[in-house]
Amino acid sequence: MCGIFAYLNYRVPRTRKEIFETLVKGLQRLEYRGYDSAGIAVDGNSKTTTDINSNTICLIKKKGKVKALDEELYKKDSLDLDEELCTHFGLAHTRWATHGEPSAVNSHPHRSDKDNEFVVIHNGIITNYKELKEYLITKGYEFESETDTEVIPKLIKYVYDNRENDSITFSTLVERVIQQLEGAFALVFKSRHFPGEAVSTRRGSPLLIGVRSEHELSTEHIPVQYNTARFKDGLQEKNNHNRPDCSNTINSVGEGRAVEFYFASDASAIIEHTNKVLYLEDDDIAVVLKGELSIHRINRQAGEDPVRAIQTLQMELQQIMKGNFDAFMQKEIFEQPDSVVNTMRGRICFETNTVILGGLKDHLKEIKRCRRLIMIGCGTSFHAAVATRQILEELTELPVMVELASDFLDRNTPVFRDDVCFFISQSGETADTLMALRYCKARGALTVGITNTVGSSICRETDCGVHINAGPEIGVASTKAYTSQFVALIMFGLMMSEDRLSLQKRRLEIISGLKALPELTKKVLSLDGKIKEIANELYQQKSLLVMGRGFNYATCLEGALKIKEITYMHSEGILAGELKHGPLALIDKHMPVIMIIMKDACYTKCQNALQQVTARAGRPIILCCQDDPEVTKNAYQTIELPQTVDCLQGILSVIPLQLLSFHLAVLRGYDVDCPRNLAKSVTVE
Ligand code: F6R
Repeated sequence: MCGIFAYLNYRVPRTRKEIFETLVKGLQRLEYRGYDSAGIAVDGNSKTTTDINSNTICLIKKKGKVKALDEELYKKDSLDLDEELCTHFGLAHTRWATHGEPSAVNSHPHRSDKDNEFVVIHNGIITNYKELKEYLITKGYEFESETDTEVIPKLIKYVYDNRENDSITFSTLVERVIQQLEGAFALVFKSRHFPGEAVSTRRGSPLLIGVRSEHELSTEHIPVQYNTARFKDGLQEKNNHNRPDCSNTINSVGEGRAVEFYFASDASAIIEHTNKVLYLEDDDIAVVLKGELSIHRINRQAGEDPVRAIQTLQMELQQIMKGNFDAFMQKEIFEQPDSVVNTMRGRICFETNTVILGGLKDHLKEIKRCRRLIMIGCGTSFHAAVATRQILEELTELPVMVELASDFLDRNTPVFRDDVCFFISQSGETADTLMALRYCKARGALTVGITNTVGSSICRETDCGVHINAGPEIGVASTKAYTSQFVALIMFGLMMSEDRLSLQKRRLEIISGLKALPELTKKVLSLDGKIKEIANELYQQKSLLVMGRGFNYATCLEGALKIKEITYMHSEGILAGELKHGPLALIDKHMPVIMIIMKDACYTKCQNALQQVTARAGRPIILCCQDDPEVTKNAYQTIELPQTVDCLQGILSVIPLQLLSFHLAVLRGYDVDCPRNLAKSVTVE
């Protein structure tokens, strides 16, 4: 996840310093979306010339937080801070790395060439960037970064260089570019060839445009203009339908009067300037030319709304940053239908049932030959290893050890050259996990990172790895990173078993389960109201047990961890198979027990545990599959979940416990995002 912000002032004089301030403020509002590097693009000094070809675009990029960029801006002594720019378009971006480590060269805006003819900011992932990059390299375009984004400015320059006539518009260039892109994007373009003009578009990633004018806006709706798109030469021609060109129709906002436009990934960066906004739809191309905003599309889809409404935001700034949510943790829980998709994006082909993790494919042979897999992490990341251990054993046919990093080190665990060691870490900086990594490396094992933070220490120091692409996690209690780690590890198992004939049926079942996962995740999230009611009954309790076994044992550990860390209640995850060996002594009519009983190989054994609990007057709250009267008849309360493949069920069953812990913490009056005594990234032993 990255943050996009752009600002266009038309006939509103602003000094370059004021423009810097607006861009930096916009980025600060979006910094929660990514904070490993930032950059801006503005016009260079223009006093000396009015010749369009002499327009210059200046890029300033810096690794680190927005503050570091802000300091950098004022070091650029070649830029005149006091120069008044009556019309100007500036881009800004704060990055959360997905391809390429955090560095100035990998940060946005990215450019077409050394003369900055086209520059672009991007939020999302271009999944076919490798093919595009290879093609563009054969055409002589040189790349300077490791990012997926850089293909976009190169591609637009390629289209421009191969244009059939000089009257081609900026929006047509962008139309042609997006026909070639796969994946998700929100993009804003600026060009030396089209000074003062802004073109933006999106597919799958959010983008909205704010409008500020001293005059009443003359319209509440902008009709969409449907354009013909043709793209010749080399790259595949797509969607080339002959539709009338409507580009002469005046369907715009602004009408050439003094007006300002703000482009952003979310409203938090816009609300302090204006509450009039327009949300772009997938594949809309928004153009601001001579102060007028218009919306273009290539094709009209059946049932599509042909107008875009200008809406009035009613919200406070704080509210918007968290969307409609009260806390980042809650927002991150609800982001899971998207974050699991982002983990899979570009890696699973559902048509061919293939899985390719680019960061591991060159090491696959070596991994297949190994003695054992060792999965190492702390806290929630360790639980992701526990959750996937069984399916990894099944799909890889290798012994899989799961290890808490601190304990692994305390034991001086023997590690061999033919071991493959996985280091699972959201932050990529956890000290224990990092030290375990160095320990394994020193013993010659192959080291693999599973992280959410590109450029982190674990990312840099491992031999290879997988980035889970869950987007920044702000809430201290980890939620969406867990489900994305889970998905990433399952994908690893699928990749390892691709050539095993005996496992094909199982693989297909899991792959179709992954395909359905986002929809099922949404269904589980819709149980929030019921879970809140249960929280209302439980929040004054001192203790809460969470019990299950098999594929759902990790859910118990993870659910109990969520509960203890943000509600400060005592909570324990109990393996139901261990019940008789001690925990049963805790059960009476006062002790709240959550039991996870799903329809998998452990179903009957879990029912036995249920009998033992009810026989001691326990009143279990049961997480079970929909339509399971056998289980529900013995429950005090049930939370009924959609059923999926056994090894994926834990992705769904953890969500009610994430929600429960959230509601319990709120009811107990605690700060959900910043629990006492805890930090997001534990960089000390
Ligand atoms: C729990 C939680 C912690 C982390 C642990 C490891 O909600 O967030 O238990 O999972 O500190 O952190 P990472 O994954 O960054 O290595």
